Parts: sequence; structure tokens; C-alpha cells
Amino acid sequence: MLKLRLIIIIALVLPIIAQKIKTQVGQWWQKRSEQLEHLRLFKILEKKIFIIKDYVFDILDLFYSEITGPRIVSATTNPPISGLARLFTALLLKEAGIKDVTILEYQDRVGGRVHTHYFTDDPNDERRLYGELGAMRLPYIDGRPDLSVHQLVFDTIDYLNEYNKEDDPDKEIKTIPFIFSNPNGLYYFNNKKDPYDKMITKNYSKTVNITKLGYPDSIPDDYASFYNEALAPFFKELDIDFTKGLKALKRQFDYGFVDLAMEAYTFDPNFNTSWKTIDKGMQRLPNAFLPLIKKENYTLKYNCEVYKLEKTEDGQNVRVHWKNNGKKESDIFDRVVVTTPLGCVRHWDIPSTLSYQKQRAIRELSYLNAGKIFLQFKNRFWEKSPLETGGLQTTSNVGIVGGTSSTDLPVRTVVYPSYYQGLPTNGSGVLLASYTWNDDAARYAPYTEEERFELALKDIVTLHGEIARKEWIPGKENNKAHYWTNDKTVVGGAYAKYGAGQLEFLMGAMMRSEDYIHWAGEHTDIHNAWILGAFNSGVRVVKEILQENLMNDKWLKLKNMRLLKYWNGNLDAYAGY
Ligand SMILES: Cc1cc2nc3c(=O)[nH]c(=O)nc-3n(C[C@H](O)[C@H](O)[C@H](O)COP(=O)(O)OP(=O)(O)OC[C@H]3O[C@@H](n4cnc5c(N)ncnc54)[C@H](O)[C@@H]3O)c2cc1C
Ligand SMILES: *[C@@H]1O[C@H](CO)[C@@H](O)[C@H](O)[C@H]1NC(C)=O
Ligand SMILES: *[C@@H]1O[C@H](CO)[C@@H](O)[C@H](O)[C@H]1NC(C)=O
Ligand SMILES: *[C@@H]1O[C@H](CO)[C@@H](O)[C@H](O)[C@H]1NC(C)=O
Ligand SMILES: *[C@@H]1O[C@H](CO)[C@@H](O)[C@H](O)[C@H]1NC(C)=O
Ligand SMILES: *[C@@H]1O[C@H](CO)[C@@H](O)[C@H](O)[C@H]1NC(C)=O
Repeated sequence: MLKLRLIIIIALVLPIIAQKIKTQVGQWWQKRSEQLEHLRLFKILEKKIFIIKDYVFDILDLFYSEITGPRIVSATTNPPISGLARLFTALLLKEAGIKDVTILEYQDRVGGRVHTHYFTDDPNDERRLYGELGAMRLPYIDGRPDLSVHQLVFDTIDYLNEYNKEDDPDKEIKTIPFIFSNPNGLYYFNNKKDPYDKMITKNYSKTVNITKLGYPDSIPDDYASFYNEALAPFFKELDIDFTKGLKALKRQFDYGFVDLAMEAYTFDPNFNTSWKTIDKGMQRLPNAFLPLIKKENYTLKYNCEVYKLEKTEDGQNVRVHWKNNGKKESDIFDRVVVTTPLGCVRHWDIPSTLSYQKQRAIRELSYLNAGKIFLQFKNRFWEKSPLETGGLQTTSNVGIVGGTSSTDLPVRTVVYPSYYQGLPTNGSGVLLASYTWNDDAARYAPYTEEERFELALKDIVTLHGEIARKEWIPGKENNKAHYWTNDKTVVGGAYAKYGAGQLEFLMGAMMRSEDYIHWAGEHTDIHNAWILGAFNSGVRVVKEILQENLMNDKWLKLKNMRLLKYWNGNLDAYAGY
């Protein structure tokens, strides 16, 4: 048997790409004139989105809450060998019987963009004073693993719980409900309150004419149904055959449409999507991989910044260079799995023999800005009625547990933690005072953390009244702001967000292994920006490695494991591109 020496630099995954079928597209459209109808719908939709964006709330928030009731729609989200893609890759390599695996991690912890910030020394502190800087929620469909796109993540949690049961019961991962949306969450736009000077709740806003909220026109009534109608045929094709459905999507549209549709698909209103988070922090997910890495005698080195990959002279191996606490080290491996975000890789020295398409993907792939600001309060005033706390009155006057508020104030989206349920109601708590994407996130970037706390607090006071200032606990150790675009372990954005044509023209090349270097991570799977994307990509690279080393029997065995029953990252649509 081939003895492999592997290294996993970074992990996560995403999907992929298409063929050059411009001419086929023409024929295809002619053949299926009904699709032309959808193109027409999209053109109209684009105009409507433009109007609506200017008006209201997050358009998706509006759209989904109209159709399905409480949901939170964020831009998007996503794990393993030290990020989740790395850790998961390590798990699978263990299952495949691969012995010699080294994991190099820049930070002094595992998890990457799964990162819980604990405000207390004890992560098990019952008060749950923590905030999720990165991933915070996982979608599922109750009782229907076959329909749950993210089922692999839950199956991995089950696998780890089983693995750790005997020797490391403290590593158990417990999932709890994540309250996605809340009719008592607030809408505050154009400085408008209701006629009785009350803050408007999301529930109330559904019953009022939007012009009363200070918008110049009313929202087209048919917006939601229109959007739904336009996307429905694609959802249907994705349901029937994901790979074929994806091809259909890609053939027709550029302009980042695929990313938009995939995001909408995850939040598909036709499914009864529920949400979960991990009790005591998402960080428990990457941490639960540690016993496995230890028992397998895999090498996990912290504080190692990779900066160079080169082919050995015989061309048969890869030499990896890194700085271990600043000290230069290197070693030779048979295979390298790079799971690091491409913004980091951009600054590495990589073999000049890598293809043009690969290098172009590293240069150009778009990432989305995202930022979060957490404020800590002596009391969770938002969970109580404002009548009780003396805060601003609302159209419901009840407290807000879970869900979000939406506003055109700079904080944009306030997320009320779901994990305080069952705790004494007058206890302290951490509020995600601001979750922003794109330009909204960049607007906070130049400010110091302390300045960002003050800016966010100002808006929370506008939404909830002076009670917020009174209960706030100032200080850098009690509050936390993180702008992912400036994070050196990510570089240039929180997660991949494919721009126009990128999925079609860059994804295949980005996924492809070249010169014994394999590429995984959230950005290399169609479920980009989710933990699922990282896991999916981990499976794909293990498949590549096993098959390329004539160990297809091991791959087949692996594939038939219960763990991979619902793996949905086998995107033949991109094979060979
Ligand atoms: C703000 C935010 C919110 C999110 N919300 C959700 C959510 O709710 N649900 C969900 O499922 N997903 C969510 N995601 C996405 C999810 O967190 C990611 O898709 C997933 O964690 C990515 O895993 P990865 O292994 O690909 O990358 P990472 O986790 O980033 O792992 C990459 C690893 O590489 C390391 N590294 C970087 N540079 C080097 C170097 N030079 N040398 C060595 N190591 C290096 C990093 O330290 C890191 O450990 C969110 C992400 C963000 C940023
Ligand atoms: C939402 O508003 C409707 C109509 O006014 C009301 O019947 C319902 O009780 C409200 N729901 C909540 C959760 O406030
Ligand atoms: C909303 O109010 C505006 C201005 O008062 C009016 O022109 C419009 O017809 C109203 N829309 C609905 C749906 O009632
Ligand atoms: C969602 O749940 C409702 C109520 O349980 C049910 O009627 C409906 O069929 C479900 N939808 C799907 C797509 O399963
Ligand atoms: C790891 O190393 C220990 C000590 O050398 C050994 O007893 C154990 O069998 C090894 N585990 C594996 C999975 O190889
Ligand atoms: C919460 O309320 C209880 C009962 O009124 C009181 O004993 C306790 O000190 C309060 N805790 C805080 C943190 O205010």
C-alpha cells in the first residue's frame, strides 16, 4: 500500500463550474421558450429589486418573512483540518486508514471561521456570555434528513459525539434551537415610528401601508410571489437532480445569479426549515475533532503560518514552508491540501507551474465583507417588556427573545441571542448589536473597536431607549467587534461570494488538484459561505487523494459509511473542467 504523507493546510469547500456552452445556450433557449419567459421575469425582477432595496429592510428578510413567517436571512454562512474543512478531512483520512497526516494552523486554536468569543474565562460558564464571531446557525428540516441540505453537518456532530462518548464526554456537542426570526423584532426606517410614537414591530409592519414608514412608493404587492415564481423552476430542478439543476442554472445566467439562487435555495420557503445552534458556542464543533486527531497520532501544529509551496526537484512531492512563531521551517509531503481562504494564498509563493486558470481563481475570486459588533449588558433588557424596563414602547410591548431587528441605521441588523432561554430573566447578556455585510460592514472598518462599540450603542439606544446605555458594560474586555475583511487568517472578506461569471469560469479550475496540491475550503463548494461547504469539500479532496493513489476501494468503503449518506458535494457538473 502506498504510504501517504499528507498535509492539510486549510480546509473548507465549495462547488463549481461549467463548460463553455455559450453556443449551446442559444440553442437551448430556442428549444425551451418557457425559459425565455423566466429570463423576462428576471429582468423585471431586477427592477423591482432595485426599488425594493432602496426602500425597505433587507429584501430577503421581507420576502421570506412574508412567505414563511419567522426567518432570518443573512447573506450566507459555513468547517475541518483546522478550519472545519481541515478537521473534517482529517476525520475522513482516519476512516480511510491514512496514517501520516500533519495539520498546520496559523492560529493557536482550531476552528477558523467557526469562532466563539467567550467573555468569561470558563467556556462552560452557565451565564453564556459569548458571541459567535463567525458561523452561528445551522439549517435543518425536522424529521426529513433526505430534504435537509445541511444534514452532513448534523451527521458529523452525531459521529463526533459517538466517537468522544467514552473518553471525552466533555466534548459532547449539544444542539439547541436557533430562533431565526421574531414578529416582535423591530423595524426602524426613515426615522419612523407608528402614529402613537411607538417603535414598529415586524408583525405590525405587515399590516401597515409602507408609505407610512416614510417610503415614497408602495412596495409592489406581487413582489414575493413574483420572485417565487421566477425561481421555482430552478428549485424544482435542483430538487430532482442537483447536478443537472445546477447546470441549468449556470447555463442561463451570469451576473452572480447562481450565488443568489443558491442562497435562496438554502432558505427555500417551500421547505419547513428550522434552525439550530450549538449550546455553549459553535467553537465546540471544531474542538470535538481534537481527541480524534490526538488518538490517530496526527500532527497538529499551532502558530504555523504557511507562506510557500514548491515542487521538489523530482517533481513528485511538495515542499511546504511555514513560519513557526516567526521561525522558518519546511518539510516535504506527498500531498498537500490547501483549505486556507484564497486571500491568504494570494500572498504565498506558489509553484509557477500551476495553471493560468488556477492562478486567476486565486487572484480574482470575490469574497463578501462582513462585520459583527457585540455589546455586553448587565441586564437583558430586550427580553423584557419595555413597560417594565422603562425602555421605548413598541407596537407589541413584549420582550424579544431570539430573532432580529432590521433598520436603516448603520447597525442594520440586530440579532437577539437564542441561547438565553431557560436562564433567569434578569441576568446579564451579550447582544449582537450589529451584523453587517458588504458596504454596510465596510462603513465600520476604519474605526477602533472602542469607537465601534460607541457607534453601535448609539443605534441600540435609538431602537430600545436609554435603558440600553444604562445597562451597558463598557470596556474592551466586555465587548467585541470583528471585521472579517481585515482578519489576517481570511484576508479580504468573510467568505466566498461568486461574482458574475466566476462560478462558471473559475470554480472548476479552483477545485482541480494540480502538482499534488489539493484545494478544499468553503470557497470550493456550491454551498459556499456555509460550514456544509467546508465539509463537502473535505470529502471531495479525500476522494481525489484516494482515487489518484489507486485506492478506489477505500473511497467506495468510505462513501458507503453512514456519515456520508447525505454528502452532497459530488458535483459531477464540474468534473474535468
Ligand atoms: C461572519 C460569518 C458568519 C457565518 N455564519 C455561518 C452560519 O451561520 N452557518 C454556517 O454554516 N456557516 C457560517 N459561516 C461560514 C463558515 O464559518 C465557513 O464557511 C467555514 O467555517 C469555513 O471553513 P474553512 O475550513 O473553509 O475555512 P476556515 O475556517 O477559515 O479555515 C481556514 C484555516 O486556515 C488558517 N490559515 C489561514 N492562513 C493560514 C496560513 N498562512 N497558514 C496556515 N493556516 C492558515 C486559518 O487560521 C483557519 O483555521 C459564516 C462565516 C462568517 C465569516
Ligand atoms: C401579529 O398581528 C396580528 C394581527 O394584528 C395579531 O393577531 C397577532 O397576534 C400578532 N402576532 C404577534 C406574535 O404579535
Ligand atoms: C398607501 O398609501 C399611499 C399614499 O397614502 C396610497 O397612494 C397607496 O394607494 C396606498 N397603498 C395601499 C396598498 O393601500
Ligand atoms: C411544511 O409543514 C406543513 C405543516 O406541517 C405541511 O403542511 C407542509 O406540507 C410542509 N411542507 C413541506 C414542503 O414539507
Ligand atoms: C499512536 O501512538 C501510540 C503510542 O506510540 C500507539 O500506542 C497507538 O497505537 C498509535 N495510534 C494509532 C492509531 O496508530
Ligand atoms: C434577579 O432577581 C432576583 C429576584 O428578584 C434577585 O435576587 C437577583 O439579585 C437579581 N439578579 C440580578 C443580576 O439582578
